[in-house]
Amino acid sequence: MEHEIISEILTHITNNNINKITFSNIRNKELELDKVIGKLVSIKNNINLQLEYRYRRIIKHTNIVTSDFSNIETTIQELFELAKDINIVTINENINIKISKKFKISVNRKTTVSKAISFDHNKKKEYFLDEKKKYPFLIELGIQNNDGKIIKSKYNKFKQINKYLEFIKQATTQLDSSKQITILDFGSGKSYLTFSAYYYLTKVLNLNVKIIGIDLKKEVIEHCNDIADKLNFTNLSFIYGDVIDYENKDEIDMVISLHACNTATDIAILKALGWKAKVFFAVPCCQKEVNGQLKADFMPFMLKHGIIKEKFSTLLTDSVRSDVLEAFGYKSDIVEFISAENTPKNQLIRAYKTTNDINKNILSNLEQFLSSLNVKMFLLDEVKKLI
Ligand SMILES: C[S@@+](CC[C@H](N)C(=O)[O-])C[C@H]1O[C@@H](n2cnc3c(N)ncnc32)[C@H](O)[C@@H]1O
Repeated sequence: MEHEIISEILTHITNNNINKITFSNIRNKELELDKVIGKLVSIKNNINLQLEYRYRRIIKHTNIVTSDFSNIETTIQELFELAKDINIVTINENINIKISKKFKISVNRKTTVSKAISFDHNKKKEYFLDEKKKYPFLIELGIQNNDGKIIKSKYNKFKQINKYLEFIKQATTQLDSSKQITILDFGSGKSYLTFSAYYYLTKVLNLNVKIIGIDLKKEVIEHCNDIADKLNFTNLSFIYGDVIDYENKDEIDMVISLHACNTATDIAILKALGWKAKVFFAVPCCQKEVNGQLKADFMPFMLKHGIIKEKFSTLLTDSVRSDVLEAFGYKSDIVEFISAENTPKNQLIRAYKTTNDINKNILSNLEQFLSSLNVKMFLLDEVKKLI
């Protein structure tokens, strides 16, 4: 039976007769893989099987040209062994396959109304901001001109925002969308990210979202509030002030920041910890605090070079930040946000709340390590007040 099913799937693929194939109910829980969704897409005139691996925290894509039969066969075989449920939507059939623990297979078929296969590879781009589309909010913010063309000097920012939206989209799977989701953007500045996140979450994903941007620049905040009013972005608002003084008694689901200067990222972390926010994302900016204290006599062969010292401080600071989040029950990692050509400030600290337990060992280890360097960090001092 197993061979028949695999051979049927392969036949559907090679005959271009798959609208969608989903492998779910994954046997190996350690993989943290929810499902794998396959579609046929046309790339440079070749039909490919595009596989979207939806892990708990990230989504990965792979394309296999369907003429590479042995590769397709191996992949389908692997996926078959991994999934307990397989759903295949062909042009005129919906096939549900259930595979038991002991690999007993049952198949349920339903004939459906014929639906042509779409090989449109570019469809995914619609999910984020499309540089060929005119967005009134991007025009208001000065990222696009009145014809909807991206202004050259803003192109890197546009790419950063698009990339950030990709991470935000992944985060939405961890949030309860049956109620209003509240997001805070710390050091929102000109608020390109804040507006884009609001637009994307409310107008593209149709989620009930409230976003608040906070920044020290009074005029910029007023300007952003005017734009939000003008565009009727009713649940988007901006508050003038220092993030350290910002209080909010409501439930905060997610805290984000993009290039918030120096310790503003630490304050964002402290606030997120206090609110037990479910998601925390930060792409920090300048990590001056550690750089100012590091003495070159610790690893002189490295730290005598200013550029190495700066990079070392950045890596150290962000690693401590990520570990502090871990100590407070977050699953945290640091990933590349965008290419270094776009911006050298390209580390994203990404954290998802998993427990309310606090691991004091992590904090004391960090403290010990920092004191061996004769370095003090505002974040570590402040975080003790939350215990
Ligand atoms: C480099 S800009 C980034 C702005 C925006 N997030 C972006 O990516 O375009 C950093 C912003 O953080 C704000 N900022 C820095 N420290 C702050 C603080 N303590 N409270 C509020 N805003 C702060 C600055 O005013 C500035 O607008």
